[in-house]
Amino acid sequence: MTRNEGTEKLVLLLSGPNLDLLGTREPEVYGTDTLADHVERARVAAEKRGYGLEHVQSNHEGDLIEAIHGARGRCAAIVINAAAFTHYAWGIHDALAAYDGPVIELHISNPYTREAWRHETVVAPVATGSVCGFKGLGYEIAVDGVIRLLEEGAGE
Ligand code: DQA
Repeated sequence: MTRNEGTEKLVLLLSGPNLDLLGTREPEVYGTDTLADHVERARVAAEKRGYGLEHVQSNHEGDLIEAIHGARGRCAAIVINAAAFTHYAWGIHDALAAYDGPVIELHISNPYTREAWRHETVVAPVATGSVCGFKGLGYEIAVDGVIRLLEEGAGE
């Protein structure tokens, strides 16, 4: 896979609802790292490979949709933890479907070991790959992985 036409060496990281509460929100599930801690690790991972990182967090679906629109033709890849929107927000699905580059679905926990309603994902059908269950390591794994896909290809 090569970088989508005309884009910058820039990864857009998107964070959905309630992720702004990380650090104090259900620490037994999500740990005690704040969103700023996760984003910083993602930024370091991107910079190690010569990429920049842009981050948008919102509790509103429309804000995330507009951020996805703004990435078209500009950002080389999207990493998205859509949080609860993952499970029902078809507007995000459609926005991602209209985006040209690789999309990585990210979760801190492993939704498949949790309640049944978390097993449904509207992001996965339009994602290149998924990273879930790696807790605090997930952000850097997802960012590093998607840049390697862009720069080195998938190894076939
Ligand atoms: C989450 C998992 C979702 O099911 C949940 O609604 C979240 C966080 C995660 O990172 O593990 O808010 O996306």
